[in-house]
This record gives sequence, structure tokens and C-alpha cells, in this order.
Amino acid sequence: SIERALRPRALAEYIGQHRVREQLEIFIQAARARHEALDHVLLFGPPGLGKTTLAHIIAHEMGVQLRQTSGPVLERPGDLAALLTNLEKNDVLFIDEIHRLSPVVEEILYPALEDFQIDIMIGEGPAARSVKIDLQPFTLVGATTRAGMLTNPLRDRFGIVSRLEFYSADDLAHIVTRSARLLNADATEEGASEIARRSRGTPRIANRLLRRVRDYAQVKAGGRIDRETASAALTMLEVDPMGLDLMDRKLLEAIVHKFDGGPVGVDSLAAAIGEERDTIEDVIEPFLIQTGFLQRTPRGRIATQTTWRHLGLKPPAGPAGSG
Ligand code: ADE
Repeated sequence: SIERALRPRALAEYIGQHRVREQLEIFIQAARARHEALDHVLLFGPPGLGKTTLAHIIAHEMGVQLRQTSGPVLERPGDLAALLTNLEKNDVLFIDEIHRLSPVVEEILYPALEDFQIDIMIGEGPAARSVKIDLQPFTLVGATTRAGMLTNPLRDRFGIVSRLEFYSADDLAHIVTRSARLLNADATEEGASEIARRSRGTPRIANRLLRRVRDYAQVKAGGRIDRETASAALTMLEVDPMGLDLMDRKLLEAIVHKFDGGPVGVDSLAAAIGEERDTIEDVIEPFLIQTGFLQRTPRGRIATQTTWRHLGLKPPAGPAGSG
């Protein structure tokens, strides 16, 4: 895929997430020197921040193969057993959306993670019996948008837990500049910064916007992505000067116009804007909370004064929505 073409393969090429990168560097170097599998790794954080990329990098740096699957795809214990028994020494098994594993599949995983062994039932009825199979040592890399949705026994089996954070505008500008180079796009430093600044702290969004801005520049501006061209293209794409997109504004406008600024529960909001609750919680809200447009309280979501002003409205007086 085009997205894969932009993905860094080595840790040294990976931009941002400095804390996570520094830790992984040390743990990988140590495991390699001992010829052992890296301890199991849980990566969590909002979508698009590089969880899949990091899983591939871990395998690359360990010099092993990566097998990829996802929680919802593993329907039956046998699906996971087939994958596990095919792993070679110290390989990486990447399970995306690991919070969506079914309980029976998760059961198989525990002894696999702890003792590199699985117990599987063969046959049915009175002839059924349990067979133990030894596995090669391996590393599970699990990814999830919310660590809070994992069961405790599963979470406890990860020796390395890394939380990915939104990227700074500077780190994102480096990523956009690197991607522009790989795409042979002519982006000035200011053009790259403008895209970075309006990409919700998320490399996947930055790379997608870069491609669309490149199209715009090609047709409207002789191919050069400078600040003015980037800004015009992003406005056409309905990404506003703060980097909020249509869904962000739809959510904030609903809180302000339909619920007087809140507090409002997430299910009421989901109904009001016709969006899935999970999408609101995993995709839309984290960035709005991080940037101070939204507050989560025990009584529900509240639009902040920043939000009222951003929507061109006067914030209400009083404690509601203050901050
Ligand atoms: N492309 C997407 N995410 C990246 C990152 N963190 N570093 C470098 N290139 C990227």
C-alpha cells in the first residue's frame, strides 16, 4: 500500500514518541544480545500514531519474522493455535485490536504467553482430550486504542507497556518533510509545517493530507507546496485553521447547540450526530480533550470556552464550560 511505502522500517528512522523509542531501543538490544525473544509488548493509544509501524520495526530490529492478525479475525481457538504453532524462534506475533479477542481465544493465549505452551482440545464428546503443544519462544505485540478495555489477566502478561501520544507539530513537520521527499513532492519547510500543524497530531492524517495537498498544488499552483497553497488546500478539505475536521466540528457544535454546552453523555451525543460511540471515544474525543476543546466529567462531556470562541460564539457565564 501507499501507506506502507512511507513507513519507517528501522527504529533510527522513526520520528517522535521519544520515550517509547528510547525504551524499546534498550529492551531490543538486551534481548538480542541474550538471543532471547523480546518480552511481550502492549502498544496503546489513539489510531494512526504508529502502533502497526512499531510492531514491524520491532520484528525488523529483532531480525525475526512478523505474523499479523487482529482480535476480531480470531474467531475460534484453533485460529490462534494455527498461528502460534507456525511461529519460529523469537518471531513477533502482532495482534491488532487485541481488546476484541473473544474470551475462549484469550484463554489459549495465557499459557502461550507465560510458558510458550498451548492446551488444545481434540475430538468431541467422551473421546475428547486435551493435548499440550510446546511453542517456540515468541513475542506478542498487542495493539489497542484503549488499554482500559483489556482484561486484567491479559494486561498483566505484557512485560513492556507503551503508551503512544499525539505528535508535536515539530515531529509531525519532520514526518511530512520525509514523506514529501519519498513522494517526490516539492514542499517548502513552511508548507510542511502548515500540514503538520493541522493534522490532529497524527502521522496517518498528516500523510493523507500531504497527498491531497500535493494534488491541489499540482493542479492549482504549479506543484509547489508552500504555506499559502497548503492552507488553501486544507481549507478546501474542510480542515480548519486549528486542524479540526468536519467530525470534530460536528461533535463540538452538537454539544454547544443541542445540549447548551453540556454536560452531555456520550450515548446522547452519538445519537445526535449519528456516529458510533466507539468512534467518538477512540477517534474523535482524545484529540479534542488533549487540545482543550472538550472536557470529560463524571456527568458527561462539556464544551470549553475555547470551543465556544472557536465556533464564533460568546461563552456562557458561570462555571459550566469554564476552562
Ligand atoms: N511515518 C508515519 N509515522 C512515522 C514516524 N513516526 N516516523 C517516521 N515516519 C513516519
